[in-house]
Amino acid sequence: MVATDAALATHVGRDVLASGGNAVDAAVATAFALAVVFPTAGNVGGGGFLVARVRGASYALDFRETAPHASTRNMYLGPDGKATLDSRDGWRSVGVPGTVAGLYEAWQKLGSKRTTWAALLAPAIDLADRGFVVDDAFRKTIERVDDRLKKDPGSAALYLPGGALPAVGTTFRDPDLAAVLRTIASQGPSGFYKGPLAERLAAAMKKGGGLVTADDLRGYRAKWRTPFVFEYRGHTIIGMPPPSSGGITTAMIAHVLAAYDLHALGFHSPAEIHVLAEAMRRAFAARNATLGDPDFVANPLETLASDAWAEAQRKTIREDRATPTSELFAPATPGHEGPHTTHVSVVDGEGNAVAMTTTLNAWYGSGVTVPGLGFVLNDEMDDFATVPGTENMFGLVQKEPNAIAPGKRMLSSMSPTIVLGKDGAVELVLGAAGGSTIITTVFQEMSNVLDFGMTVPDAVRAPRMHQQDAPDLVFFEPHGLPDDVRRALEAMGHATKEVEHLADAPAIGRLGGGWEGAAEPRRDGSLAEGP
Ligand code: DON
Repeated sequence: MVATDAALATHVGRDVLASGGNAVDAAVATAFALAVVFPTAGNVGGGGFLVARVRGASYALDFRETAPHASTRNMYLGPDGKATLDSRDGWRSVGVPGTVAGLYEAWQKLGSKRTTWAALLAPAIDLADRGFVVDDAFRKTIERVDDRLKKDPGSAALYLPGGALPAVGTTFRDPDLAAVLRTIASQGPSGFYKGPLAERLAAAMKKGGGLVTADDLRGYRAKWRTPFVFEYRGHTIIGMPPPSSGGITTAMIAHVLAAYDLHALGFHSPAEIHVLAEAMRRAFAARNATLGDPDFVANPLETLASDAWAEAQRKTIREDRATPTSELFAPATPGHEGPHTTHVSVVDGEGNAVAMTTTLNAWYGSGVTVPGLGFVLNDEMDDFATVPGTENMFGLVQKEPNAIAPGKRMLSSMSPTIVLGKDGAVELVLGAAGGSTIITTVFQEMSNVLDFGMTVPDAVRAPRMHQQDAPDLVFFEPHGLPDDVRRALEAMGHATKEVEHLADAPAIGRLGGGWEGAAEPRRDGSLAEGP
């Protein structure tokens, strides 16, 4: 079973499984296909994280972007003491891409080797070369950010040919990207990180005023990390450790809530949303203040994951009153953006599983395309505390541990997650797109199954809420909160805010002897399918 945000990419993964590949092979092929058919978030110019369960062992792979060596702590500090927008848009927002190195590393260590590396890239090359039919979903990804894409000649030429949005029903081709993928297929990551392709990227960077150099590219490494493992309701949860905040922040929320009987409180009752919001608020306050790249700062994971921490938080939660964020952490202005990023869940017939989330950060990342290479670059630098203490694109107010330093990886919310059943076998494969809402969505999908006994499609479909400490708001989806529930929450002191939708999170779960896949109904084109 393969679940992704784009049907054509799901088909690629499904075919790899059908031809004998394992879950890792399928995830790798799917990721390259997403770079072609879902280029708003699928990428070779970005980064991500992968959590895998293969032959009974757990793995966590970090292919997050790094800050270029010429970057400095205050590079985005404007004359007014505030952050400039250079971290969100254009050449200066780009971190050193990690995806190609990561996918190769995953395949080398965990791939079945029943298929070659080149064979895993072949479907993506074909899709880029021969093209695919533009549908409304694809066109909309461009329409949403066409102002930004227009500003960059490389992106405009690729995504707005002749100055217009590609028309629905026409064929979209990207021969330049096909050539890049062919080089990666024949030479492996060195074809991307060294030689003519890397030099071309570095030259375009220099021309555009960006910081990524050929040396930065040559020096990039994906890193195996120790998976972050915790328990919830007797299940083992395998999450991503820093530089993703996903595993530990989900664990903090889960540990605080472990003492509550959520089922007895009732799904989306005021009392249940209240304790969820209060647990989320405290977990995000700790996340934002203390976490960063573990190769640069010490992350207090043991403390934050301890029973003592959860107990101390619970003591401060009032039964019928919200704790104002100002008591925990400085408030910020609301900063909620749509779910860009893309998550892939895969399971194979041998019981292996992959949860992989990859991103360019914003839709179409930095909006800049290296002329002749056919792909956009990320704007991941904005995930740093670009000016510690001020909010980023997602309204997160992060602190010194996540300040910029050369070679450092920016803290992420991406939360690829695998849940094991009480029998020790894979039970759920989860993950999401949506910045800070990723963490709370992954927790809710897990809780929907483990606390409320929902099927996987129901767990994905169920309305979501979100709290991230600052801004001091409980976010909810349209029709997601009945008026009386909303009024009850407001009466407890929770300000509420409706947003278009919270996160995109296709999922896979075990159902009896087989697998149940759930596409994300909030995202056009999402598809879960097995061979
Ligand atoms: O790594 C992160 O946390 C972000 N760059 C993820 C970005 C994302 O999900 C975009 N969606 N809003």
